[in-house]
Amino acid sequence: MATCYRNIASLVSPAEAVGELTVMTDAAMVVENGQITWLGKDIDAPSCETEVDLTGQTVIPGFVDSHSHLVFGGERSEEFASRMTGKKYEAGGINSTVVATRKATADELRANTAKLVQELYASGITTFEIKSGYGLDVETERLSLEIAAEFTDEVTFLGAHVVPNGSDPDEYTDLVAGKMLESITAKWVDVFCDKGAFDVAQARKVLTAGIAAGLKPRMHANQLSNIGAIALAVELDCASVDHCTFLDDADIELLKNSNTVATLLPGAEFSTRSPYPQGGELMNRGVVVALATDCNPGSSFTTSMPFCIAVAVRDMGFSVDQAVWAATKGGATALRGNQGVLEVGARADFVVLDAPNHIYLAYRPGVAIISQSFLQGRKVYERR
Ligand code: NIG
Ligand code: FE
Repeated sequence: MATCYRNIASLVSPAEAVGELTVMTDAAMVVENGQITWLGKDIDAPSCETEVDLTGQTVIPGFVDSHSHLVFGGERSEEFASRMTGKKYEAGGINSTVVATRKATADELRANTAKLVQELYASGITTFEIKSGYGLDVETERLSLEIAAEFTDEVTFLGAHVVPNGSDPDEYTDLVAGKMLESITAKWVDVFCDKGAFDVAQARKVLTAGIAAGLKPRMHANQLSNIGAIALAVELDCASVDHCTFLDDADIELLKNSNTVATLLPGAEFSTRSPYPQGGELMNRGVVVALATDCNPGSSFTTSMPFCIAVAVRDMGFSVDQAVWAATKGGATALRGNQGVLEVGARADFVVLDAPNHIYLAYRPGVAIISQSFLQGRKVYERR
């Protein structure tokens, strides 16, 4: 049965050109069997069995969140509070969530993940990736990935998140690249390559083992320092290198001439009180950039893509259009997928904003302007 969304004030979709959007005013969109079958001016809309009036509202593609860590136990609000009064963020904090995750039951982990997934829908995210990385032993990593796969196809093995307390770094790296990798199922392999986590040689070992096992590589890098990880990411054709808080000119040149997306995570800089990378400048220099939530209990406990867009626009040099592009097509590119656009033949993953245009995503920070989210034409969220 076809549904026609009528009188759309502003219908927004990313263009092919990085950072550019196409905007149609007074538009209509027809959805049938989970797909977009017609788009155009409202005045030309075909008649449909069902019509939904969206006067005064904006339709955008569902956001694509290419980086999240939703499977974990416990929380770290005290750590956040002490950071806000001067304590420094360190990779080692991950280990406290590892203890809580190992203690949690499978049902507790699943229920926590499900709750956060509902929050993603409420923030307009319709495609999302989920990583493991708080188990750091064979059993808990396997369980985390099984739970992640209940919610998404974009499942990432991050056994190399940090060296667990009490382990030798090289022995642990061998475990991740060996027995742990053999015991898990995932689409992607990721490594946190940074000060206090894994060095470039260890990251290479894990990623090449993952690639040999049929997983596709991506990385966490340059969040806390620059230890030369970007060159490895580009050499291994990682789909994305995430954080990129500290990049030098040579890194930017490498990224520009690669198929590796730079994924920026405004929530992490916000919640660790770190300097913001200048994503608008990266885009202007020809790097493909994505924005993602990085939702995790330590460095970025947000599921809100509108929040990330607002920070990107306010503090990271993005134009509004660049930020919306990065949160839709940029995220899809970081997952080597084709989501994040509204066009005939695309999956009907879309979001209705209670706003006359997409600028309101940044113009009304902290206000719940997402009024409905649709996944393959099915409503998965409605604001009450
Ligand atoms: O992406 N950088 C490494 N991993 C997470 C933080 C995890 C944590 O502190 O628990 C991140 O920010
Ligand atoms: Fe992360």
